[in-house]
This record gives sequence, C-alpha cells and structure tokens, in this order.
Amino acid sequence: MLDVQKIREEFPILKRKINGHDLVYLDSGATSQKPESVLRAMDDYYRNNNANIHRGVYDMSVESTRMVDEAREKVAKFIGARTEEIIFTRNASESLNLVMYSWGKKNIKEGDAVLVTRLEHHSNFVPWQVLCKENKAEFRVWNVDREGRLVDEIASVRSTETRNDGKVKLIAMTGASNAIGTLVDIKKMVEMVRSKNPDVVVVLDASQMVPHMKVDVSKLPVDFVAFSGHKMLGPTGVGVLWGKKEVLNKMEPFLYGGDMIGEVGLESTTWGELPNKFEAGTPDIAGIIGLGAAVDYLESLGMDNVREHEKELIGYALEKFKELGDLVTVYGVDNVEEKGGALAFNVKGVHAHDVAQVLNNYGIAVRSGQHCAAPLVTSFGVSAMVRATFYIYNTKEEIDYLVEKLKEVPKVFA
Ligand code: ALA
Repeated sequence: MLDVQKIREEFPILKRKINGHDLVYLDSGATSQKPESVLRAMDDYYRNNNANIHRGVYDMSVESTRMVDEAREKVAKFIGARTEEIIFTRNASESLNLVMYSWGKKNIKEGDAVLVTRLEHHSNFVPWQVLCKENKAEFRVWNVDREGRLVDEIASVRSTETRNDGKVKLIAMTGASNAIGTLVDIKKMVEMVRSKNPDVVVVLDASQMVPHMKVDVSKLPVDFVAFSGHKMLGPTGVGVLWGKKEVLNKMEPFLYGGDMIGEVGLESTTWGELPNKFEAGTPDIAGIIGLGAAVDYLESLGMDNVREHEKELIGYALEKFKELGDLVTVYGVDNVEEKGGALAFNVKGVHAHDVAQVLNNYGIAVRSGQHCAAPLVTSFGVSAMVRATFYIYNTKEEIDYLVEKLKEVPKVFA
C-alpha cells in the first residue's frame, strides 16, 4: 500500500492553486509531476558537479561520468536489462525513431509487412507508416473491438481480410494504451505472429507501462523497448531505448558525431561500443541524473504497490462514473485487470476541449483531444475525448471531486 499523503508532501507542485482551487492533477499520462528528490538531484548536479562526461580527467568530469553511469545502472536494473543495453535518448519518440532509422530502413524490404496496433500513440505508428511507404513494404494494422481490446485479427489497412501470412517482419506495439488504458496481452500477440514467422522483431512502446508496473524486459518476447523519463517522475528531455545487445551491435548508428566513435580517420570512422554508439553529442546529463533519482523513488515505493494503487483508483473511478449515467460515455474496457491508469470519456453534447476548460476552472487538469492516438480515437466514432490519468499521488477524493464537477459541465452550456 502507498502512503499517498506522505507521497503528496514530496511533490511541491501539488500545493499549487489553480483558479483559487487546489490543483487536482489528472494528466500524468502526458507527464508526471516530480518529487523533491528528483528536483534536488538535478539542482545538486548543476551546483556542484557540472562538467561534461567522457571528456575530462579532472575530478568534476570524472564525477559527472560516474553519476551518468550510475543512473544507467539504476535504469537497467529497474527493467531487468544489461547496463550497456540502455540507450539514453530525448524521449520515447526518439527511441522509436532510432529503431526505425537504424534497424527498419535496412531490414524492412519490398514484400515485407510491418504490423502496428490501432492502440498506438502516433510515435509508434507514424514512423512505421513512413518507413513502409519509403521501402515499399505493407503497413498492417491490428484492429480493436468496441471496447478497445485487440481482436484476434490482423487486417490490411485497406481491407479487413485477415493477414497473418508470415510476411510480417516487425511488430510495433504498445503495452498500455495512452488514450484509453487498454493493457495488451503482449505474449499472446507476439506468439500469434511468431507462429508464422519466428524471426519477427518486436518493438514495444512501454511509455505507459514502465512508470506504472513492474516491467522485466528479460521476460518479455520483445527486441526493443522504448519509454520516457518524464512520465515516470523524471525530467523532460530524457528517454530510454532498450535493445538486445546482439541486435544493437548489428545496427548502424542513428546520429553521428562526438562520443559515439571508435577511431576517426581522414578516410573513414569506426563506431564506439554500446551504449556510446547510439549516444552522439553531449547528453542531457542533469536529466539522466534526475531519471536515476526517479528510479530510486519508484523503487522505494515498489512497483507492485504502484500498480495496486492505480488499480484501486481506476476501479473506483469506473464505479463512480456510473453515477453520471448517460451524461458521460466512457471508452475502453470496464475491468481493472485489463486497464492501466487512463480513463477516457466524453460528456454528452459538449466538446472534449470545453469539458477540460470547465474542469480547469475548478483546478482539475485533464487532457482533451486525440491524445496523439487519432487512429484509435476515431475508431470510436468521435473526434476527441477527455482523458483523466492517475498516478501515485492521486486520491479517491480527487475522483469524487472530478465526478462532482462533471455534473456542472452541462449547466455551463445550458
Ligand atoms: N504521450 C503523452 C500523452 O499521452 C503526451 O498524453
């Protein structure tokens, strides 16, 4: 069990007032808030250690290098990876683009197919769509049912014909939908495709998993995992790509420049070892150190406790929303076992942005729109949804307050 009141004390931003009301932050799916320990780690670095890494023999540079190495070790341990398999990027989108450019461009060929799910965030959808156009491969979509569950069917984009025919060379899939919360049965999906092509490469967007539940990459049937630091209590500007060492070693670099080289000659250059080969230029050193502190914080809570807390909140919210009757339409599965911490809904007759604006008047922060998941949102026959996302610092009282204020929304537009 989490001590939520104690946790809340550690997040200074939660003391903010918005329009005269206590902040009720229900947008951690977009970015999480940051605890004191993360803020302090970054501030301390700039005050006391600031120096570039891998580029100096003086104490401060050596210290900075050590701090980044330690953060990498923490992230690796957190997800069950080998340290050199952790590549720091700017965000999950960059991690996914890295895979597309460095692995996809070379390996996806005319006649191959790439399979994405309709649950994807644009960052794990658009790069593959572009790649398929450029490399003349077929872009296939794994469809969802009316509750946003993946159906046992792989359809071509242009038809509903089932197409699990062994041409699929890469699956791009999320583990948890950012928009409606669906948790994906990763093993089932991968096994189904691997039954036709055992060598299929799997790229998992775990941006909405790693912050919320225990993820152990060594137990997942996947080759790459991408996630962002800022959704897991860390700062913006740092993302992570995990890849299997054997696969990463065979790939060409994504970006070229400082710190990623082996030897540079006038005629040619060799590449550095992992992870440097994929980390050109000065990284976000303070951000990486902040991410390390975020991992410490989450480890201190225990990821099973984090997931339990969110299950309790989402279960409570699903029940509480029933009070609203046909005033709201809730999207996605109505079952906490299959749902992460995202609740998507619409208020009858009111556009999602208007709902979000009214809620903001009461200090409630929710996201509205297509949640960077237009193919999914439009599959429900709507152009926008309101989304409340829950995290370690949210309470049932905040959900009560949200429901109470949702009742006010139609009055504003009457
Ligand atoms: N990917 C973030 C979200 O779902 C921005 O809101």
